[in-house]
Amino acid sequence: MSAASRRAFLGMLGGAGLAVAGCGAFAETSGRLLASRLPLPRPFTVPLPVPEVARPVRPGRYEVTQRVAKVEIIPGVTTEVWGYGGTFPGPTFELRRGSRTTIAVRNELPVPTSTHLHGGVNPPASDGYPTDLVVPGGYAAHHDHQHAETRHQTVKDYDYPLEQRAATLWYHDHRMDHTAPQVWRGLAGFALVRDTEEDALPLPGGERELPLMICDRAFGEDGSFRYPDPHDGDYMAGVEGDVILVNGAPWPVAEVTATRYRLRLLNASNARRYRLRLAPGGRFTQIGSDAGLLAAPVAHDTIPIAPGERYDVVVDFSAYPVGSAVTLINTLAGGPARNVMRFIVTRRAADDSAVPRTLARPDARPTAVTTRTFDFRRTGNAWTINGHPYRPGIPLARPRLGTAEIWRLTSDFHHPVHVHLAHFQVLARNGRPPAATDGGWKDTVDVRPYEVVDVLARFDGYRGRYMLHCHNLEHEDMAMMADFDVV
Ligand code: C2O
Ligand code: CU
Ligand code: CU
Repeated sequence: MSAASRRAFLGMLGGAGLAVAGCGAFAETSGRLLASRLPLPRPFTVPLPVPEVARPVRPGRYEVTQRVAKVEIIPGVTTEVWGYGGTFPGPTFELRRGSRTTIAVRNELPVPTSTHLHGGVNPPASDGYPTDLVVPGGYAAHHDHQHAETRHQTVKDYDYPLEQRAATLWYHDHRMDHTAPQVWRGLAGFALVRDTEEDALPLPGGERELPLMICDRAFGEDGSFRYPDPHDGDYMAGVEGDVILVNGAPWPVAEVTATRYRLRLLNASNARRYRLRLAPGGRFTQIGSDAGLLAAPVAHDTIPIAPGERYDVVVDFSAYPVGSAVTLINTLAGGPARNVMRFIVTRRAADDSAVPRTLARPDARPTAVTTRTFDFRRTGNAWTINGHPYRPGIPLARPRLGTAEIWRLTSDFHHPVHVHLAHFQVLARNGRPPAATDGGWKDTVDVRPYEVVDVLARFDGYRGRYMLHCHNLEHEDMAMMADFDVV
């Protein structure tokens, strides 16, 4: 960033910008640190948990209850979480392309919720619109029945036809103005879509396939989650914690054999961005992006991952001597938050997996029928799109079903932009070719300060009301959302 644009950037952010500015890391900082008030646990001592796989109540139907639970995250203290199934992360839904699935969500929390399947090609009524609320059980009974029955539901059937390629999806709360604190308390989990195209590949599977939900949190002295007063303007940039959790465990450790592993990386943090690297060294072979497999694998030394993004990678642990500790680190952070998790290579083992040179048939790139610009920027005390704080029911665009459009995304800060329904390819950053890590079909793209990112989005699936928004959840709650209607 030039001195002039850096000054403009500081001016734009005002106090919040100065508060997050930490020497050279400034340009990469996307939130403000909230410190824990208990002694931080020693890294690499807690075993990596793998979320339970949800079991259907009958083929094609799941039922899950959102509830309050006490869990041990930091050894020795308990934390109250709000979880799908009372766990954090929630259960992993193993789904098949084209097999219509219903997930009935019952709410037994003290607050309303709305569940969004992120990356899903979802019908509008099941897309988790922020005011399409599921209210706490018992709420309706305390109110006028005639009105309560029609306006509020305590259980909702989310209907997912899953007409989409195999991909790492995730689900999380999307309640209007309250998404950030509710996800922070635990309302998020994985949903993996598989298909026959992917089944035919010799990728690592079973115990050698690990979904890794990475997020940061801060804890109070009693083990409770800390979260600031949302009206405290100091946290307008976003909330970052000083404890890094993977699948809900602080800096966990996993024993692996000296073989290939498939790691489905998800950044489920509210605001924190990561640049992941393996220490003492090593490479990630990227096989998939947000919306499914790449046409061909791409090797990376580092993976930048913004809130909402997924990277599907293979790491070959046979490259390390038995006994090695291989640490996943975040080079954007210093101090304890630099560590993410550790793998210990315990022994040699047979490995019949491979990463084929062709992973998926490349989708032809459609031709765009129009170009639209969406400007993500702070305006006064709100985070806005095209100058407007979120106005539910007023669409900023009306793309036609079955067409593709170029959406030009511009920004004053770090804004990981997410589009519901439509998957897109990154065409350019600042008029130049996108990064090697921008490949494939995506649903979230990290738009960095003063960047212009062009994406080609295709509108397939359903007509109806959808949204685009910043996936820094504090920005989202502070109105950085907009509707678009597929017509
Ligand atoms: Cu993952 Cu509209 O969000
Ligand atoms: Cu989404
Ligand atoms: Cu943002």
